[in-house]
Amino acid sequence: MYQKVKGFRDIYGLEARYWNKVEKVFRQTFRTFNFEEFYLPILEKSEVFNRGIGSTTDIVEKEMFAFEDRDGTQVALRPEGTASLVRAYVENKLFSTPGISKYYYVGPMFRRERPQKGRFRQFTQAGIEVFGSGGPSIDADVIYLLYKLAENLGIQNFVSMEINSIGCPACRPAYNEKLIEYFKSNIEHLCGDCLRRLDKNPMRIMDCKNESCKKITADAPKAVDYLCGECRDHFDGVKSYLDALQVPYKVNPMMVRGLDYYVRTAFEMITDRLGSQSAVGAGGRYDGLIQLLGGPDTAGIGFAVGIDRLVSLCMLNETEKENDLDVFIISFRDISDKIALKLANEMRSQGVSVDMDYDFRKMKKQFSLADRYGSLFTVVLGEDETAKGTAAVKDMQAGTQEEIEIAKVTEYITDKLRRN
Ligand code: HAM
Repeated sequence: MYQKVKGFRDIYGLEARYWNKVEKVFRQTFRTFNFEEFYLPILEKSEVFNRGIGSTTDIVEKEMFAFEDRDGTQVALRPEGTASLVRAYVENKLFSTPGISKYYYVGPMFRRERPQKGRFRQFTQAGIEVFGSGGPSIDADVIYLLYKLAENLGIQNFVSMEINSIGCPACRPAYNEKLIEYFKSNIEHLCGDCLRRLDKNPMRIMDCKNESCKKITADAPKAVDYLCGECRDHFDGVKSYLDALQVPYKVNPMMVRGLDYYVRTAFEMITDRLGSQSAVGAGGRYDGLIQLLGGPDTAGIGFAVGIDRLVSLCMLNETEKENDLDVFIISFRDISDKIALKLANEMRSQGVSVDMDYDFRKMKKQFSLADRYGSLFTVVLGEDETAKGTAAVKDMQAGTQEEIEIAKVTEYITDKLRRN
């Protein structure tokens, strides 16, 4: 027997059903905000992420599944979608389309993190990215969309929204200096990684998971206190649009995010229902990234949600049934097997979900299968009925039964289902 790779998992049964529902809700919601789907490759040249996400981030330093391909190219399984999508946007010259571009993607991401509840090495994200708009109204609408996803999934009571502004290339250097000064005066508490990051990228220390580092970051200078005038106005704008949209949020001045490309707005949708893995969705603005990856100076903002985590939250609601099948057909070899196959596919072509026992076992066995599938109706094609050209249609919820002409069963069932 083989076992799956550590941190990877199989998704099936009830969880797969919830998964399906979550993806459906996402796609519908993204469409209402006029986002278009983008299918991205899973493998990219490592450089896309090294440059895009930042070479001193945990993701790039420790977590990428990166390797040398047979032809010597350095490649990596994508750890996230933003850098990939920016690469695609630039490579396909999509910036030449006038106006703003709005894309969404859904798919697996890979990070070699320490696996634990809610944290996997392969996980699935649904993300959105908006290119070409720098004003605060789009930030608020993007945050609203994240909130709306939770609402449309019925889990808005399990989550809360935190926002922050982490400045821009104009005000970041002054803030970095303050951070370096502060951390140098607490240098004995810093872990090895943070010591290395201190001069190169001090903001990364704010994101360190090491307990000793965490203790001192609590009192570190906060980016919001060092914003330039433009960043401050932008942040005030975001907050006032969020107020207008009545999105509940809290400013968390400690949030810096684990990827280097962010400027100004950063946000996270968090939960306290999934143990230590609290972030169910997160994002922010990344105005310099498109240029960094070779494109024109274009603003960008987006977020990604972790579908694995959202599915776990949805499962707390326990509304989805184990299975639901519209119709189960009970039939018998050489008596009604062919009628059953034809009838099943006639109903399926009307959008009714139908299953049957392809081994045509004893009636009792077939009823128990219908039960297992939780079928709403059972159509029995017994010897007596088929001789008359009829079927016994059982409404499993009401416990009633009617004899219907075989030719009219599909119409009868679709009509009943519509009324249900
Ligand atoms: P991120 O915060 O790294 O952002 O990931 C977004 C979400 O992916 C997290 O909030 C979490 O729900 C989920 N996630 C991340 N790692 C794991 C894991 N190991 N296991 C399960 N779920 C996980 C990004 O990836 C950015 N690209 C978001 C973004 C888009 N920013 C701008 N545009």
